[in-house]
Amino acid sequence: MSALRTLDDLLAEGVSGRRVLVRADLNVPLDKQTGAITDDGRIRAVLPTLGALVEAGAKVVVCSHLGRPKGAPDPQFSLGTVAGRLGELLGAPVHFATDTVGDSARSTVADLADGQVALLENLRFNAGETSKNEAERGAFADQLAAFGDAYVDDAFGAVHRKHASVFDVPARLPHVAGRLVLREVEVLSKLTGDPERPYVVVLGGSKVSDKLAVIEALLPTVDRLLIGGGMCFTFLKAQGLEVGTSLLEKDMVDTCRNLLERSGGKIMLPVDVVVADAFAPDAAHDTVRVDGIPSHRLGLDVGPETVAGFSAALSQAKTIFWNGPMGVFEMPAFAAGTRGIAEAITKADAFSVVGGGDSAAAVRALGLDESSFGHISTGGGASLEYLEGKTLPGIAALEN
Ligand code: 3PG
Ligand code: MG
Repeated sequence: MSALRTLDDLLAEGVSGRRVLVRADLNVPLDKQTGAITDDGRIRAVLPTLGALVEAGAKVVVCSHLGRPKGAPDPQFSLGTVAGRLGELLGAPVHFATDTVGDSARSTVADLADGQVALLENLRFNAGETSKNEAERGAFADQLAAFGDAYVDDAFGAVHRKHASVFDVPARLPHVAGRLVLREVEVLSKLTGDPERPYVVVLGGSKVSDKLAVIEALLPTVDRLLIGGGMCFTFLKAQGLEVGTSLLEKDMVDTCRNLLERSGGKIMLPVDVVVADAFAPDAAHDTVRVDGIPSHRLGLDVGPETVAGFSAALSQAKTIFWNGPMGVFEMPAFAAGTRGIAEAITKADAFSVVGGGDSAAAVRALGLDESSFGHISTGGGASLEYLEGKTLPGIAALEN
């Protein structure tokens, strides 16, 4: 890829008194009942960029999406709470606009003093943000671009989306990559370049269909591919095993069988799993061999022998990429697999990358030391698509 212009290039030009529009990914998980932020990792991840701009005296206009509202205002997806948390972390008030490109946004931006920060309301309250129609996206991008004299993309988690704020705004303003985007791209390009070997990838999460493309892309490159999480049951089924009432993507069984046949023995599957009576934190559960899953029970975690086997493979690795939890880690009874794998990764003498909102949240929710990983990516889909070798619209737009 061609060299990106960076935040340092922009700072070198001087930004004092200039309006800098920053696309961030402040799409943080919220508690369904209370609406409170359950993991603020993505907010903390953009602080280096925002802090540098504040320090340099820019008028900083931040925009982001949150969740998937349908192109119109929807209070449960308001960025209001995020504005409060961002202000706490920055140690300065964040001026929150209650719309994205309307009267509130216009006056909030106009009133900013040098070194102050504004946050616009959720980009996805506007149909133009995610529209497939270029003219519609472009019209919204024009309105956003009017708030900046320069544009910084620090929304790594959204660079795989061809959305107005990610793809069309940089075509309208001088643009650079923020600190987070730069670091993510540097780290992930090591994995697609010439990773130190053995290179071991751990994939989990619920859906095989989400991961097929990355498995295809990784198979020739990796030395070992360890598969756990809900998606492992479709692979186990492909090996002719019965999986009870576990998650199963029936139409993917043949594809999984084909992958196993072509994998040259690189794919490792669980040998034991924790099965439960129901998908519930207090469900009765036991550990069984994968060839003994009862027909009325469902697997919610990998078992201890699997953790031992996966850990042995990880202990040999020099490069590790991990995406997706090994089980339902949010429920303590089914968290041991994810915890065991995460600990094995931190113990390995390897450069380790954790990709994905869920795995990153798992690391923090389980109280693991974030600094014992080489890099924790803020992008789930984005990091997978990067590893697939796809062109990411947000990165391509910065290169132009
Ligand atoms: C994410 O959480 O994966 C990013 O914020 C992108 O969100 P999206 O999948 O709704 O586009
Ligand atoms: Mg996503």
